Parts: sequence; structure tokens; C-alpha cells
Amino acid sequence: MKRTHHCNELRPEHIGQTVTLTGWVHSRRDLGGVIFLDIRDREGRTQTVFDPSDLSPEVFKTAEGLRSECVVEVLGKVSLRPVGSSNSKISTGEIEVHATGINVLNRAEVLPFPVDDPEVTARVNEELRLQYRYLDLRRPEMIRNLRLRSKVATATRNFLDEQGFLEVETPTLFKSTPEGAREFIVPCRLSPGQFYALPQSPQQFKQILMVSGVERYFQLARCYRDEDLRADRQPEFTQVDLEMSFIEREDIYALIEGLLKRVWKTALNQDIPTPFKRLSFFEALNRYGIDKPDTRFEMELVDFTEEFRTSTFKVFGGTVAAGGVVKALNAKGMAGATQGQLETMTEYAKSFGAKGLAFIKVENGEWKSPIVKFFTETEKAALQAKLAIQEGDLILFAADQWLNACEILGKIRLYCAEVLKAQGKLTLPTDRFDFLWVVDFPLLSFDKEQNRWYSSHHPFTAPVAEDIPLLTSDPKKVRGQHYDIVVNGVELGGGSIRIHQPDVQRTVFEEVLQIPPDETNLRFGYMLEAFKYGTPPHGGIALGFDRLCAILCGTTSIRDVIAFPKTAKGTCLMTDSPGPVAAKQLRDLHIEVKAAKKP
Ligand code: AMO
Ligand code: AMP
Repeated sequence: MKRTHHCNELRPEHIGQTVTLTGWVHSRRDLGGVIFLDIRDREGRTQTVFDPSDLSPEVFKTAEGLRSECVVEVLGKVSLRPVGSSNSKISTGEIEVHATGINVLNRAEVLPFPVDDPEVTARVNEELRLQYRYLDLRRPEMIRNLRLRSKVATATRNFLDEQGFLEVETPTLFKSTPEGAREFIVPCRLSPGQFYALPQSPQQFKQILMVSGVERYFQLARCYRDEDLRADRQPEFTQVDLEMSFIEREDIYALIEGLLKRVWKTALNQDIPTPFKRLSFFEALNRYGIDKPDTRFEMELVDFTEEFRTSTFKVFGGTVAAGGVVKALNAKGMAGATQGQLETMTEYAKSFGAKGLAFIKVENGEWKSPIVKFFTETEKAALQAKLAIQEGDLILFAADQWLNACEILGKIRLYCAEVLKAQGKLTLPTDRFDFLWVVDFPLLSFDKEQNRWYSSHHPFTAPVAEDIPLLTSDPKKVRGQHYDIVVNGVELGGGSIRIHQPDVQRTVFEEVLQIPPDETNLRFGYMLEAFKYGTPPHGGIALGFDRLCAILCGTTSIRDVIAFPKTAKGTCLMTDSPGPVAAKQLRDLHIEVKAAKKP
């Protein structure tokens, strides 16, 4: 017997054909002495029928002795299901296969959790599912996710190949880089006391490939970062990483818009409109309080600094006098928030550094708030006009320095959106994707504790040409040629035009970032050297491939689109890693382990 059809293939036109199906016993039902086995494979499910009246007793007995998830081969004849018993939920629901033979290829023990009902499985504790990941992956949604990921990878490769990109693999045994996140390091037996580092991204290699004249490089690159993990972060993840020579920012925007258009068409058969909107970093923060705004809903931040400059409410007037701002947002439909809920929101705001969270509830035609008594009629009129206040609204305020006020209200805006979603007052269609380029980031940010400038992204980002003279005189004012691509509030990717002049790069390392010359030479000497031998202007971008797939699959956790993800603690529960190694291995690597201190 050899499989003739997969389990999502048979239709009424196959009636009368003798077929062989292979797969797993998805479910078994006994109805009046007749046994129904649903056989499942990667593609779908087909019902098979074992009727003792037209079967050999051995075949019937074999079917009777099977439990869920045994692996079988079933031989039989395709028939139309009797009137009234077709199943419109599955695409093979009009037919069934009347078995004439069965071959048990392997038996299954009772599973640690059921996989035949996706809703039941989805409720099983995630740790158990990760321990038995191979069973979790049997769920149709997981197979769908893996399939979609594979399709998106192929579409990406095809598109970039058509655009003249070469796929080049770069080393994953690299050395320490300064790209921000903590690194995983790998000891080296042949160089005692020396370490490789796993790359956080192929950034340096892809720039070197531009020096080599590759002109257009891409890679589905595995990257490693030893960061605190969340739903959208894994210690190892994949980037669609690319770099191009002789280009400007506009070329990258057009390329990525084309790529995402192809990907959305392939994965979801959806035409996404291009070009994407653009928002400056300043505007993103000023209006949404975050550099990756979800623009599917409004609830924008509105500035009232001028209106409250002379306010008798000290918190507002005082903040403005100290150079700060007053900002507010209108959470429409949230006036019903209880005292407890408002306290929770205030505590939440405080966890991001807020000093408080003043509010006005608009209920029964009245503005209810302990602070309204301080407001003049003019101030009230300004609030009314600029926030379009209506019955049922909840107005929330932050008074602080500009960046703090924006970021605090940005968090509150997202919090309110979650509350409104849970209450059914805000619905975001699942097929809506708001793409956005965030541009004009400051090249540098200031670290107050260390009293020095650091790169907002990485030290290879080029300053806007006319700002180069400000690098040493007024670093704060220097704009970087960096861009982020954002969709529905998720940072999908980021990149920049790079510095290609060795002298500018050295100035950034040594004078702006204050890296001592010997350290610059140790870490980047080879790059600065390479740049001396004819480096084309170049730039690129990296998209988070796991995040891209998660968005396309409609999930918020990238664990759902990675076959074998790690837990929030960075462990793999299936293989039980990380784990100890033998003393001899450590000796060979010249490593001595100090036992972890017990708490
Ligand atoms: P960046 O650090 O912004 O840029 O990374 C690019 C994209 O990679 C994804 N990403 C992650 N995905 C899952 N888990 C993680 N821990 C994780 N960290 C990052 C995000 C992010 O937008 N070399 C530069 C790119 C360039 O300049 O060309 C870089 O790595 O989606
Ligand atoms: P207080 O006068 O400190 O009792 O504060 C009155 C209201 O203003 C309370 O609801 C506080 O949460 C709120 N509040 C205090 N400081 C700020 C601030 N910096 N921004 C916004 N609201 C604040």
C-alpha cells in the first residue's frame, strides 16, 4: 500500500475510487457497532468507516483496538456520505472512505494533552505544550503557521532575487559587537581565554560585503541577543537582512514597500496600498507617545501647555513654568471607570515615572474631577474644543517634561485601547494593517548616568549630510538617516544609510561616542581599514522575520511562529537546555565555573 491521496484531497468526484490514506487517528467514534476513524495528515482530515458487515473480522478488530494519534494506513473505497451526515466544517465533509484494510504503522501512548480539539489544546498550560512541542505542532493552526512562514520565506527570496540581490551567508561565530544588547559568547578551545560572540545581526559583515562590491546582499539571518524576553522577543530570532550600495533612503522605502506588497499578496491574498505613510520621530512621540504608534485608532495626545501656562492648578502651571508641558488625551467611552480602575491606571502611569494622572470624567452632563474647580472658563473651553469632549468621555492628563509626558500618555493610550477592546467599544478588523515609516530619529541619545552620548541605533548610521558639522559641536541636533518600519504598533524593522567615509566613522567612534582609540582599533580597526579601499555609499535594513510572520498569522506572540521557541527564561523545555557540560569539556575550553551562589 502507498498513499494515493492526502487527507484533504478527496471530493465527490473521487467516488468509487479505491484509495490509500496515511496519517494519524484524529478521533474514533463507535456508532451502533460501526467504527468511524478520522484520519489526519498535514493537509487535513478524512472520515473512514469500518463496517463489520463488509469487512474481515481482523481488519475490524484492528480498527477497534486503535486509540487517538496511532499512525495508520487505510485502504478503502470513496463513497458519498449518507444524506444528512455531511460535515460542512471540513473540506472532505461530503465523502467518506469505506475501509477494506488497515495497517498500523505505529502505536501511540495516551497523550499528555489532547490535540484533536484546538480550543482545548490552546487552554493547556504553555509550559506543558512547550515540553511536548512536537505534539503542540500537530494542531492545525501551528501547521498553518509553519506553512505560512515557509511561504513568506520563499516569497521574500524570490522577490529579492528578482531585484538583483545575492543571498550570502555570514558567520555566526563572530566577535563582540557594540550594537546594544548583551551577547552570547562562545569559548574557543584553540585560543585559550578568547571568545567568539554570536552575532546580534550581520551588520558589520553586510557592510563589508558592500566594500567587496556585492552591491545587493540579503540573508534570512539568525541573530542572537541575550535580552530580557517577551512575547515579541526571543534570544535567537531571524531577520530578513539586506544591504544595498549607491542608494538613498527613498530606495529602501520603495524596495521594502514592494517586498511587503508581495508578501501580503502571497500570504493573505491582500493588496496593501503603497507608499506607506511617514511620520517623524518627533511627531510620533508628540501625537502617540511612542516611536512605533498603532495608528488604527486615534485617541491622540493633545498639547495644552499654552492654555495652562498661568493655571492656578499648581501641578499644571508649575510644570509649564519649569519648562515642561501639559498633554491630555480623550478616552472616549471610558467615563464609567471606577475609582479602583482610575487608581490602577495612576499606579500604571507612575510605574513609568508619572507624578500623577489627573482626570476628568464626563457623566450626566457634568465634568467630574477634583481638579475642575481650578480651571477657568477659557481653559475649559479650550479643553472642550481641542478634545471634542462629549458625554461618556474620560480625559487624562500628564504634566511633565515633554518626553516623559508623551511617553506616559503613550502607555496610557495603549492601556485604554486594551480596556476599550475588552469592553467591545473598540474593534480593530483583523485584516487591517497600518504601515508606517518612522523617520528623522536623533542620531544620538544622552546617557545621564554615564554622562556621554550613545548611538540611538548603532554607530554605523550616517548623520544627515548637513548635520555632520554638528557632530562634535552640538550632538543633540544631529539627525540620523535611520528609518523604522512599523505596522499596527509593532516595530517590524529598522535600518539606515551608513557612514562610508572612514574619517567620519572614526570621529563618531572616538570623538562622539568617546571610545578610546586603542579600543576603536581593537573592535573596529578592520572596518576602518576596509573603508579606506574604496567604499561605496550604502544602506540597508533588517525586518524581524518572526514578527512579520506573527503579524501575518494574527498572533501577538512570536513563539507561535517559531517551531522550537524558548521560554521567557530562555530555556527549551523540550530538550532541557541550557544544561551542564562535562568537566573534561570545560578543561578543554580552559574554563572554570564558579558555582552559582545560592540565594
Ligand atoms: P534592529 O536591532 O532594529 O536592527 O533589529 C531589526 C529587527 O529585528 C527584530 N528583532 C527581534 N525579533 C525577535 N526577537 C528579538 N530579540 C529581536 N530583536 C530585534 C525587530 C527589529 O525591528 N543591524 C540592524 C539593522 C540595520 O541597520 O540594517 C538591526 O539589527 O523586528
Ligand atoms: P494633587 O494636587 O497632587 O493631589 O494632584 C491632583 C491630581 O493631579 C491627582 O489626580 C494626581 O494624580 C494628578 N497629578 C499630580 N501630578 C500630576 C502630573 N505631573 N501630571 C498629571 N497629573 C498629575
